[in-house]
Amino acid sequence: MKKTFLSAALILAALHPLKADEGMWLPALISERIGDMQAKGLRLSAEDIYSVNQASLKDAVVLFGSGCTGELISGEGLLLTNHHCGYSYIQKHSSVEHDYLKDGFWAMNRSQELPNPGLTVRFLERMEDVTDAVLKGYKAKMTEEQRLALVKKNADKLKEQATKEGNGLKASVEALYYGNQYFLFVFREYRDIRLVGAPPSSIGKFGGETDNWMWPRHTGDFSIFRIYAGEDNLPADYSASNVPYQPKKSLKISRAGVKEGDFTFVYGCPGSTQEYVHSELVKYIQDVSDPEKIALRTTRLGLMKKYMDQSQAVRIQYSSKFASVANAWKKWQGEEKGLRKNRIVPVKQAYEERFADWAQGTRYEGLTERLAQLYAARNPLYRAYEYYNETVRSVEKLQMASGRRVDPKDYYQPIDEEIFVAMVSAFDKALEDSYKPEEFIRQRERFGSIGEWKDAIFADEELAKELAVSLDKFYNQNLAPQVRELGQAINLCYRDYMQGQMEFEPGKSFYPDANLTLRVAYGKVAGYRPTDAIWYTPVSTLRGIIEKDNPEIFDYNIPQALRDIYARGGYEEQPVCFLATNHTTGGNSGSPVLNAEGNLIGINFDRVWEGTMSDLIYDPEICRNVSLDVRYILFIIKEIGHADYLLNEMEFVD
Ligand code: ARG
Ligand code: ASP
Repeated sequence: MKKTFLSAALILAALHPLKADEGMWLPALISERIGDMQAKGLRLSAEDIYSVNQASLKDAVVLFGSGCTGELISGEGLLLTNHHCGYSYIQKHSSVEHDYLKDGFWAMNRSQELPNPGLTVRFLERMEDVTDAVLKGYKAKMTEEQRLALVKKNADKLKEQATKEGNGLKASVEALYYGNQYFLFVFREYRDIRLVGAPPSSIGKFGGETDNWMWPRHTGDFSIFRIYAGEDNLPADYSASNVPYQPKKSLKISRAGVKEGDFTFVYGCPGSTQEYVHSELVKYIQDVSDPEKIALRTTRLGLMKKYMDQSQAVRIQYSSKFASVANAWKKWQGEEKGLRKNRIVPVKQAYEERFADWAQGTRYEGLTERLAQLYAARNPLYRAYEYYNETVRSVEKLQMASGRRVDPKDYYQPIDEEIFVAMVSAFDKALEDSYKPEEFIRQRERFGSIGEWKDAIFADEELAKELAVSLDKFYNQNLAPQVRELGQAINLCYRDYMQGQMEFEPGKSFYPDANLTLRVAYGKVAGYRPTDAIWYTPVSTLRGIIEKDNPEIFDYNIPQALRDIYARGGYEEQPVCFLATNHTTGGNSGSPVLNAEGNLIGINFDRVWEGTMSDLIYDPEICRNVSLDVRYILFIIKEIGHADYLLNEMEFVD
């Protein structure tokens, strides 16, 4: 199976001149893409990007925490990532006396760097195709359940072997192409990571929710950490005697700047995409899931905002929660719009029709119909599950009652009470009673109104617990397994559909969906047309920050120091952010953006709103990643942080 699958993929990849800039490629297989990358401007070899024999760029890139990317920028373990990736750690070090979120933080020497218990970074040691070993013992008659058990058993063995000797080694086995291929990833994980610097939020989060997912953008979204190791340069628990980690490779920095058309590539850990799915799923996302979740979050955000606007204390308590609720809320809006505007459902349907015609008489016959049937069975259940998650599951009182930890420091009950009323009502109204546990219905009948019910829940721990537990049980023990079972059947179809698509479109280059494993995306600096009669140019400058600056508007109130610097003159053209066509997604935040020579020109932190549908379909006309120009980072370190000494560690090429 592996042979046929792989050789087909290889032949296709080699044959094919690429459609522009789509794709997230596996570094270990980058030799298949290197010709195309070089044709577009790259001046490196495949070995420069990924090698297990010599230091290569992969050795300068890490998975930062559980869902971001970071990169090494000095021989002494200095690491760069986004401000929004370091946010929760910066917050943990903050108090009323030292509000590092508000004022920023700069260690002026190594002894001032702040440890962050629980924070880890992972370097990829190597990755390899282990499809044969993972499927050893597989028989065609096995159920998907049996296959999964076999895969797990074989994968566990591989992981154990890979991590046996070696301090800090971790391994994972990941399915690619719906389990047509498996790769082993071996990491080395460091766990003494210290905060070195962060700009004030008025720079690092400039534009806030208003500008999030948008262009023109002026967010100085970076923070700086340092990796510490034991004397032997290997991972160690925090200790004052640990020393800065010496990386195999650190990135050199280019200050030459970017212009439209320049080749760029992004090296990082994209989290999740679904590029090869059936139109029925896209339809569900566009017509049901996105609109319903958006509406529910609009309500929830409105309630939080009402109280946050009234009190500075509540604003601080809820800033992080608000940001994470708002982030997906805004992304879904862009995604839904993008899917509609670009008529993705009919485009996919037409593709499925052509596929079905071609598939007649092959082993792929009937696949697309079967997928449609499975989605018809799954969607109502999945909708209920998503509804539960977005409504009753968002009530912190019920979360606490079912044992989830909610930090009392960040809890404000009046908000939660209003959320209870709004979300429980929405849940009750949207779903039939067959989607509710008996206890829910009993309590609903017992109290005359939602207001009385709410008062009782917030007064009576036992009652809250009964409700929360019955809902969790109903959804996690009853509904989730049904959804999972249908999900497995769907996955099984996709395993074949994936192979079928590759045979059906021998001219197309395929890449595995993102799954938080290390990938390379490449493209070029480019503006775009968000809508008729508007052309967005790809570089933003300090001038734009000053244009937005407004002390009355929280999101646009910059530090006085920045106003003063600007007033001195000469900084109008100071670059801040730029756009490019690299195919990225959540998890790519903090990823290095590199030029043709492999030198650092920026860090990735977002995508543009009109192109957020790229998780389902990438359109080279409007999908853009947003990066912070490295020269703005250097400017802020120097002019705002006065931490110039950090620049001495870095290596500049121009
Ligand atoms: N949209 C970016 C990403 O998906 C940045 C999110 C953090 N910023 C914010 N304003 N919520 O992660
Ligand atoms: N902002 C995202 C992240 O945090 C990146 C994206 O979705 O494009 O990873």
